[in-house]
Amino acid sequence: MIDLHCHLLPGLDDGAPNLATALTMARQAVEQGVTHVACTPHILPGVYHNRGPGIRNATRSLQDALDHEGIPLQLVTGADVHMAPNFVAGLKSGELLTLADSRYVLVEPPHNVAPPRLEQFFFNLMTAGYVPVLTHPERLSWILSRYEIIKKLVQSGVWIQVTAGSFTGAFGRTTLYWAVQLLDEGCVHLIASDAHDAERRPPNLAAGCDAVAKRIGAQEAEHLVFTRPMGILKDQPPSSLPGPFRGAGADGESVEIPESSGGRLDLGRPTARGVRGFSDRLRRLFR
Ligand SMILES: [Fe+2]
Repeated sequence: MIDLHCHLLPGLDDGAPNLATALTMARQAVEQGVTHVACTPHILPGVYHNRGPGIRNATRSLQDALDHEGIPLQLVTGADVHMAPNFVAGLKSGELLTLADSRYVLVEPPHNVAPPRLEQFFFNLMTAGYVPVLTHPERLSWILSRYEIIKKLVQSGVWIQVTAGSFTGAFGRTTLYWAVQLLDEGCVHLIASDAHDAERRPPNLAAGCDAVAKRIGAQEAEHLVFTRPMGILKDQPPSSLPGPFRGAGADGESVEIPESSGGRLDLGRPTARGVRGFSDRLRRLFR
């Protein structure tokens, strides 16, 4: 598996606080069958002043430490880039980073306030030749009021990354609801851990993948954690990669948008045996 959103670099943001934690997180990822991780610290003006060159240096240093420890994990550069003015100029100058220097870039909108001119922002990015990857819309407090716009963005070429833990209930039932809704509507291109530490928000891509496979099938789960992420690492155009599978879920149940976003949802919990079996197959597949 390939994890393209992870706050693994020590001391750069609210992710791994030190090298020891970063190494523990890396071991956790490898144990789950993860082979590549994009180091994606926050870039948020006024809060996290990370810049492209510093992220590249930190990624090289951590890769050296992993190699020294014999942890078989390949790191690539990236950033969790918050929406801000001059985004395209920042990418062109190298202040902001795409994923593995590809055309794909993580874009994180504000969590509690819907940004104005959302469509214009993404249109500008795509016009400049980038593929924006909107991060975890299922966790945004304003998703209910902008859900149709998010779907329109997907139709126009924006990719969506959902957090693995959203599918396991780690962020609550409302977030679980939106994660499944997006998945069922064929709006999810990637899942990623967005891990921040080794305990509270640890690398958990396997658990998310298991839950997704239960809902929508093993092949699409593989596309979410391997096929499309590998396409990003190779900077392949979106048109050459499989589009998201659209369906009502592996068990055929449909999900309706509720009046409020706190609607009832039965995702169906995978059995321990089923999870283990699927994880084993994935590990064999991805090694
Ligand atoms: Fe993040």
